[in-house]
Amino acid sequence: MDSFEYRNGRLHCEEVPVARIAEELGTPVYIYSRDALERAYQSYAEALVGRDALVCYAVKANSNIGVLNVLARMGAGFDIVSLGELERALKAGGSADKIVFSGVGKKPEEIARALEVGIHCFNVESEAELGRINAVAAEMGKVAPISLRVNPDVDAGTHPYISTGLKENKFGVDIDEAVRIYKAADALENLNVIGMDCHIGSQLTEIDPFLDALDRLLVQVDRLAEEGIHIRHLDLGGGLGVCYTDEQPPQPQEYIAAILERLGDRKLGLIFEPGRSIAANAGILVTEVEFLKPTGNKNFAIIDAAMNDLIRPSLYSAYQEIIPVTVREDGETKPWDLVGPVCETGDFLGKDRELNIEAGDLLAVCSAGAYGFTMASNYNTRPRAAEVMVDDNQFHQIRKRESIADLMHGEKLIPRDHR
Ligand code: LLP
Repeated sequence: MDSFEYRNGRLHCEEVPVARIAEELGTPVYIYSRDALERAYQSYAEALVGRDALVCYAVKANSNIGVLNVLARMGAGFDIVSLGELERALKAGGSADKIVFSGVGKKPEEIARALEVGIHCFNVESEAELGRINAVAAEMGKVAPISLRVNPDVDAGTHPYISTGLKENKFGVDIDEAVRIYKAADALENLNVIGMDCHIGSQLTEIDPFLDALDRLLVQVDRLAEEGIHIRHLDLGGGLGVCYTDEQPPQPQEYIAAILERLGDRKLGLIFEPGRSIAANAGILVTEVEFLKPTGNKNFAIIDAAMNDLIRPSLYSAYQEIIPVTVREDGETKPWDLVGPVCETGDFLGKDRELNIEAGDLLAVCSAGAYGFTMASNYNTRPRAAEVMVDDNQFHQIRKRESIADLMHGEKLIPRDHR
């Protein structure tokens, strides 16, 4: 979290004191560092200089158009999974021809819009989807570029909910069926087979599962070549982990270097779809302590951010560091459970955290730039937080806090009773 550091006991994001943003815009508030986003993207781009390669940032990790725009300005492509993400990427200035479209359930209208704007490639996840894309393309008089997502059956060694490359997962096609399905795709008039894709899971902290998956894909690429089907690019998905506490995942440079070495002198284009490793450590969630509630068993600190703002701790038992925005000189450090106002026992952002806090203090939940705001909900009719991008000594609100009116937008009463 280089772009977030203490100066005289006060947490800064780049050149801006975090407390200043909270004072001006209230809490909870997500704060992102432009510099951190740019450096994370660059570490991929630089490792791929001189290669036929695309870095397609996974929009689902953080889809604010302010964030996407920072990446688009640097030349990033985008990995999308819905029409909504497609429109966000375009609105943020992303080039359609650098967009790849993943996901198991693309609707005809989503496919049509992607064909209309001319995306780089559809990552296709089933035989049924091949048929649908072919039909939509035929109707529009177009040819759809496609890549098949192959499920290589490797264990990513990560949380079961974010592991995607095992046979029992819903993603991709069985690797043993790949050649047959590729042949079927090749026979369809309105499809152009250009790639092979995989994504084995998220928050991987070792390189080996990626290399295993790559080896397995390359076997298929060779088998396809024997059948006269020539794959132009390999898309290795996202998944590289980050440091939340004491994990030591490889850096993007090391990861890419290992992939390039394994590829040797094969003339294959490459696509990567990193999400977390670009955005997670570029953001924090700032929250205020509402009340301290020490009980006989536990010390609870009730904060104004909750599971609806950041669901990772509740959903995956994820650990994210929680630190004070201003370090206290006086007072006592004790273990605290940081819990939100939502009516669920699972509503916590951290447990047993050693902190020296008082009501009214600001806390920062670290590594919250990925899968934070994008997974937020309005549960308990709570407005979603504001989002801010810090750029050197300036900060820009890139999303307003929702209002109560926003929360009821589109709802209505049933007509008056005639009974
Ligand atoms: N490509 C595909 C096809 C994906 O499904 C994903 C993530 C990515 C790329 C980006 O993966 P990343 O580089 O971010 O690991 N909500 C969970 C993570 C779910 C990941 C889903 N797919 C969490 O908060 O840990």
